[in-house]
Amino acid sequence: MDQYCVVGNPIEHSLSPFIQNHFAKSTNQNLMYSKHLVELDKFKETIQDLFSNGFLGCNVTVPFKEQAYAMCHKLTERAKQAQSVNTLKYEDGIIFGDNTDGAGLVKDLTVGKNIVLKDKTILVIGAGGAAKGIIGSLLMQGPKKVIITNRTISKAVSLANHFQHLGNVCYAEIDCIAHGVDVVINATSSSLKGELPPLDTSLINESVVVYDLMYSAKPTVFVQFASELGAVAYDGLGMLIEQAAESFNFWRRIEPSTDGLIETIRSSLN
Ligand code: ATR
Repeated sequence: MDQYCVVGNPIEHSLSPFIQNHFAKSTNQNLMYSKHLVELDKFKETIQDLFSNGFLGCNVTVPFKEQAYAMCHKLTERAKQAQSVNTLKYEDGIIFGDNTDGAGLVKDLTVGKNIVLKDKTILVIGAGGAAKGIIGSLLMQGPKKVIITNRTISKAVSLANHFQHLGNVCYAEIDCIAHGVDVVINATSSSLKGELPPLDTSLINESVVVYDLMYSAKPTVFVQFASELGAVAYDGLGMLIEQAAESFNFWRRIEPSTDGLIETIRSSLN
């Protein structure tokens, strides 16, 4: 049976084994997907061991995505843009790296939620690894503008510079952003701590779509905050599922159906 896994630290609560084994079953692929806790200073050797022991690929999660990027022999264009890798594939002694996070977000927004991104103004809050993983894919949708803001503004400046060749992207201090934002994406890790990034409430209303990359059993603080202001607000569970489907396709060259998975997983979270 072909072997795949997810590696990270922590890894205990990863939903990837459930999702990937579901895809394998629904597409009749003879594979087994497990999870592996990797010691913080042993990423590279662990991956090399897995591949020498017959594993064909893995998903990579926090905090190893940059280390995964650094050890690849070949990278997809979107992995190069993100400068991080969440999917590794081992074929004929070559390590291939992809980053499916941005494509997963875009698929969930545009197909899962029927939201048009073309010609829209998108505000991305946060300028860390998560933001870097999605901005290239957002720009490929042809939005009017992507505005990046961050608590530490210098990081938003460098991210805007990094993606400039892909479309209309700029940075702004959070209190300088005027009305007229169509989509707000929270790419900070603030929801993990139950905190809100500083955001002018006047930016959010019933015509704004809000998306938090984080997810949890209960609505995240950001989703709750936006919903109370009348916005349509989503958490990142759909993105998690869609990025997993993109990874599955990278390994097996089959697009699995994600129909109904959000509901199945959401009910198991409660
Ligand atoms: P990740 O890989 O999840 O993006 P990261 O690279 O450490 O993690 O980046 C975390 C992001 O969340 C950063 O943009 C961080 O802002 P700073 O660059 O100013 O540190 C942002 N962040 C985390 N907690 C936050 C909070 N309570 N309010 C606002 N921004 C926060």
